Amino acid sequence: GENPHGKIDKATYSQSCKDIRDKHGITADGLYYLTSSAGVTYQTFCDMTTDSGGWTLVASVHENNMFGKCTVGDRWSSQQGDSSHVPEGDGAWTNKVTFGSAEAATDDDFKNPGYYDITAEDVSVWHVPNKSPMNLWSTASLLRYHTARKFLPLNGGNLYNLFKRYPVRYGAAEFQPGFITFQVFNTEQAVMAICSGVKPTGCNTEHFCVGGGGHFPEGNGKQCGDFTSFDWDGYGTHNRWSASKEMTEAAMLIFYR
Ligand code: G3P
Ligand code: CA
Ligand code: CA
Ligand code: CA
Repeated sequence: GENPHGKIDKATYSQSCKDIRDKHGITADGLYYLTSSAGVTYQTFCDMTTDSGGWTLVASVHENNMFGKCTVGDRWSSQQGDSSHVPEGDGAWTNKVTFGSAEAATDDDFKNPGYYDITAEDVSVWHVPNKSPMNLWSTASLLRYHTARKFLPLNGGNLYNLFKRYPVRYGAAEFQPGFITFQVFNTEQAVMAICSGVKPTGCNTEHFCVGGGGHFPEGNGKQCGDFTSFDWDGYGTHNRWSASKEMTEAAMLIFYR
């Protein structure tokens, strides 16, 4: 196939993988340079395959320590401990702080300027086992799904704007498959950012939704963290409220198109 690195010069001034595909006719998956509207250049992964491609990796949510509850590495909830005094936690869903790298998106959290800068229509999510090398993400993935309803334009064009409208903030429902749901509150008013491939219909969303604010009242902080309470009934047991070991140990990669 095509070597993406041979076309970096043109791609550098593109704002998204969709632009790279549409304006330069590039169709190979891989790392490309993008430039934000403010002029920040960064590198990320483009999925040029799924449904004709054009998907920009903008973030990954990775749980580095399921036993660390809102401790270091819980960037998509709080690294400051479970506290009602930090209702937004670290605020990563609605700020411009960036971290990590595309190549390490299954080793740690990742967030690039595309997360807040790209104006997109749909979201794609891949669940990829931790530490998978980039060239194997697609084949190693446990689950991949994307929206197709062009829901983002009505919500500000990206998740940064969507979550400005629907804050991931403490205090401000089991599930039905086939959806991606944003800003979900549980019965104790704790908030989560994204529910993976499902629409919650119950009130214990802390067992399958990720990211969140800085306070999860139930269990004295035991539910606080990037992968919330995936381990409520034991780590990786897939019993009662616990997620499977596979899902607990897979990063959630978020793309826009
Ligand atoms: O989130 C689960 C909790 O609300 C109830 O769990 O263990 O008391 O049945 P448990
Ligand atoms: Ca943690
Ligand atoms: Ca994390
Ligand atoms: Ca609960």
